[in-house]
Amino acid sequence: EAGRKLFAGPSDFFWGGASLGGLPPIERIEIAFAGRSNVGKSSLVNALTGRKTLARTSHTPGRTQELNFFNINNAFNLVDMPGYGYAAAGKEKVATWTKLIHDYLRGRASLVRVLVLIDSRHGFKPIDLEVLDGLDKAAVSYQIVLTKIDELKKGELEKCVESVQQALSKRPAAYPEVMMTSSRKGLGIAELRASIAKLVSE
Ligand code: GTP
Ligand code: MG
Repeated sequence: EAGRKLFAGPSDFFWGGASLGGLPPIERIEIAFAGRSNVGKSSLVNALTGRKTLARTSHTPGRTQELNFFNINNAFNLVDMPGYGYAAAGKEKVATWTKLIHDYLRGRASLVRVLVLIDSRHGFKPIDLEVLDGLDKAAVSYQIVLTKIDELKKGELEKCVESVQQALSKRPAAYPEVMMTSSRKGLGIAELRASIAKLVSE
């Protein structure tokens, strides 16, 4: 109920940029979406807010190229980031994005949690673990959100959740609960809204 209410209010894109020099001033707490290119970050922004085209999505990786800030009901900012690990974007772009993501994740005082999205078909890749290492080191709280669970059979999903939980058990900054979502089918969206609402009210 709290989750439904939070996301039923106005949600607006209000700032986008590709350099850390010009981040928007801190006005409210922030929750950021991180994850490999094409994992479904922008689609999840749309699913949560119920707005099909609030964030731009694409079937080709490398769609989101800036930090995009969405004001959700004046309660918090949802920050959609470029995906990491997309080599075909070109070395220079990847280096710029990597630095941007890194600096934002480690240096933003208003950031209360990073939702690290993992494609449930693939589980953790080495680059995901590198990102988690960085978050653990910087003591930035994060939580894993599995995406695209509509593509998996029940048994496959259970296996994925188990191996992800196992890999998280020794990570100091990891929130232990793993969320399971499908933006396409609307699965786990209400649960994720509720979890975010709880975090926002803390
Ligand atoms: P970048 O901005 O490039 O980093 O990608 P992203 O992580 O923002 O991914 P995006 O939301 O643009 O989605 C990438 C692709 O995954 C699109 O083709 C989506 O339609 C697809 N996709 C997103 N969510 C789901 C889902 O729940 N299920 C399935 N089957 N496909 C999905
Ligand atoms: Mg995107």
